[in-house]
Amino acid sequence: MSKTIAVWGSPNSGKTTFATKLAQTIYDKYQATVIVLYADNETPALPVIFPNYRKEDMFSVGAVLAKTEITQEDVIKQLVTVKQRQNFGFLGFTDGENRYTYPSFDETKIRALIAVLATLSDFVIVDCTSNLKNPISRVAIKEADDVIRLASPDLKSVTFFASQMPLYADPVFGLDRQIQGINVPDADLYMPIDEAKSRLHDPRFVIPYSRAVKQQMLDGKLTEPVNDKKFNDKFKAIVDKIVG
Ligand SMILES: Nc1ncnc2c1ncn2[C@@H]1O[C@H](COP(=O)(O)OP(=O)(O)OP(=O)(O)O)[C@@H](O)[C@H]1O
Ligand SMILES: [Mg+2]
Repeated sequence: MSKTIAVWGSPNSGKTTFATKLAQTIYDKYQATVIVLYADNETPALPVIFPNYRKEDMFSVGAVLAKTEITQEDVIKQLVTVKQRQNFGFLGFTDGENRYTYPSFDETKIRALIAVLATLSDFVIVDCTSNLKNPISRVAIKEADDVIRLASPDLKSVTFFASQMPLYADPVFGLDRQIQGINVPDADLYMPIDEAKSRLHDPRFVIPYSRAVKQQMLDGKLTEPVNDKKFNDKFKAIVDKIVG
């Protein structure tokens, strides 16, 4: 049985980093087949996650969603992969693309895509945008087995949720089953974690800032294990809770 996990949350809270590290940790810990789907078509994630890749090694989920029927073969053709790490694939938009690059696709098509991804892998991790007008994010939040809702410990994040949560009161979004967490995305001064906790909806975990993780992102190595015990310990505990 495949499991789909969506990562959502406030802008710049570390969603893309978290989703990628979650995928990497699951891949290495469970020797599982993992696919990451990056939803963003305003700031495509693939060129950020794989900054050193040549154009020929980059593909696009847009080409999959442009098809009338989505097949495993279409998906496999568009997977971006990492050398020496088999059964680990990445799907998203790439350099220069935007919402007009491909014909528009509806929610049914995205649901079909997620269903095909689930036939190809043990875990599908969806990195969603903060704005759930993004169609892939909107569908993933509704369809995922687990949704992680990420906040950073600052007033902007608290204010984001105060503004946006009422928009998703409809039970289809399952707000009350989402797992709220806090991530510290940089080394600047932050609101004390206790205060952040009291102002968010019952956060279940806190991920510390990791300079090594930030460096990995710059180097295009986020898909590899990181040498930071404090970060790894926290992260593995979360993975155990979610994956069980
Ligand atoms: N725990 C962490 N430790 C160190 N750096 C982090 C951590 N989490 C995130 N970052 C860094 O914070 C920055 C923002 O992270 P990221 O792009 O993942 O956020 P996001 O929520 O996906 O942003 P957006 O809303 O633009 O999609 C990046 O430079 C990333 O490397
Ligand atoms: Mg992002």
